[in-house]
Amino acid sequence: MSKVDVLLGLQWGDEGKGKVVDVLTPRYDIVTRFQGGPNAGHTLEFDGQKYVLRSIPSGIFQGGKLNIIGNGVVLDPLLFMKEAMELAQSGHDLTQRLQISKKAHLILPTHRLLDKANEAAKGKAKIGTTGKGIGPTYTDKVSRNGVRVGDILDNFEQKYAAAKQRHIEMIESLNDLAIKKGGEAVSFEGLEELEKEWMQDIEYLRKFRFIDSEHVINNLLKEGKSLLCEGAQGSLLDVDFGSYPFVTSSNTVCAGACTGLGIAPNKIGEVFGIFKAYCTRVGSGPFPTELFDETGKKIRDLGHEYGAVTGRERRCGWIDLVALRYTIMLNGVTQLIMMKSDVLDSFPTIKACTSYKVNGVETREFPFSIEENIEPQYVELKGWNTDLTHCTKEEDFPQEFKDYIAFLEKELETPITILSVGPDRDQTILRTK
Ligand code: GDP
Ligand code: IMO
Ligand code: MG
Repeated sequence: MSKVDVLLGLQWGDEGKGKVVDVLTPRYDIVTRFQGGPNAGHTLEFDGQKYVLRSIPSGIFQGGKLNIIGNGVVLDPLLFMKEAMELAQSGHDLTQRLQISKKAHLILPTHRLLDKANEAAKGKAKIGTTGKGIGPTYTDKVSRNGVRVGDILDNFEQKYAAAKQRHIEMIESLNDLAIKKGGEAVSFEGLEELEKEWMQDIEYLRKFRFIDSEHVINNLLKEGKSLLCEGAQGSLLDVDFGSYPFVTSSNTVCAGACTGLGIAPNKIGEVFGIFKAYCTRVGSGPFPTELFDETGKKIRDLGHEYGAVTGRERRCGWIDLVALRYTIMLNGVTQLIMMKSDVLDSFPTIKACTSYKVNGVETREFPFSIEENIEPQYVELKGWNTDLTHCTKEEDFPQEFKDYIAFLEKELETPITILSVGPDRDQTILRTK
């Protein structure tokens, strides 16, 4: 029997996906990434070391498992090489354990410039992207102009030159728009240097096996191997279901694992939905439960809520159960994983948003737009005032924390089977379903 499980973020990203994928890896034969690119980062901590992964799956640290970058991913050779070389230097050579789909799309240096130019042309309405060229690369994929990893093997220079020329014309026209709006034009300065480096990194990429990943994965499944699919970003950043247009450019929901790997929907077993005991968001866009006061600042400070790569301040707020019910529904979540409860250790009371009032009318369903006229309705729970970071089993939990877990399970109608009480691999408590 084949086994494919999916682990994905249920909020606006940075839920702690990397940490839990690493914890769960020993249960699987293969770990894959199915969408996204080096937009942001997944952090892992163990044996006193901290690692931030961007394109490489978080299954690379546990016992030589095969890791695959799927067709749904967008790959920047430059950032990939940096990431892989750093790992090699710390004793983790990946060339034999990491394979890359020929159908994954390449992020070109000009995609980054296009990302910048798009944002500049939007003026005040900018998305606050990570600036890594994610949107433009997926746009090229859908508009049938993309360059794929498999293209490296055949007539690559010509394909690259055509894409670059097209991008330059697009950037020039976006620059005109930005200037008209009183903004700044994107400069081509440094592009040549970047391009040179990028081409060398393409050569480095060749050290890895480029595969027809859909065939490789399905053949491995036929042999009885098991697979864990690692999502990036979070469901509220999904291009279809997230807080559009303030979203990323891929399908971050579970269905993305099917299209991003070539796996049939009926192969998927468990869907692990991961969330923080509160909520964060990076970049622009609506966030109904956002806190602008001292409480928000306290969560940010205690949770070290700053981007793993960019250091950008993450916006913080209370947990939003309306949004979580919605993303649990979209993904068919079978098991929940709650992270960072320890961040709330010193709060006398904890709030949870159970419904919204939209134009004065109460609803428990996530509406079309969460931009205006949303008043979150809260339930207030007693805090536990206990240091959770030293808990090693469920019995160690204070009663108030047990009550918080039971409250969430009831509201979300899904069991919480894993609890994380600190960033280290060991600070993870498994419960039975
Ligand atoms: P990802 O993008 O979903 O993989 O998450 P990030 O790595 O961007 O952000 C999660 C951050 O929280 C990282 O700095 C982790 O080391 C940290 N972290 C993960 N789990 C816990 C936890 O249970 N408690 C605390 N305090 N930190 C955690
Ligand atoms: P991980 O995998 C948090 C946000 C950006 C921006 C929007 C669009 O670490 O959870 P993009 O560069 O994707 O076009 O930016 O999405 N964003 C993330 N926020 N965690 C992430 O990834 C993110 N990846 C993108 O801040 O608002
Ligand atoms: Mg992250």
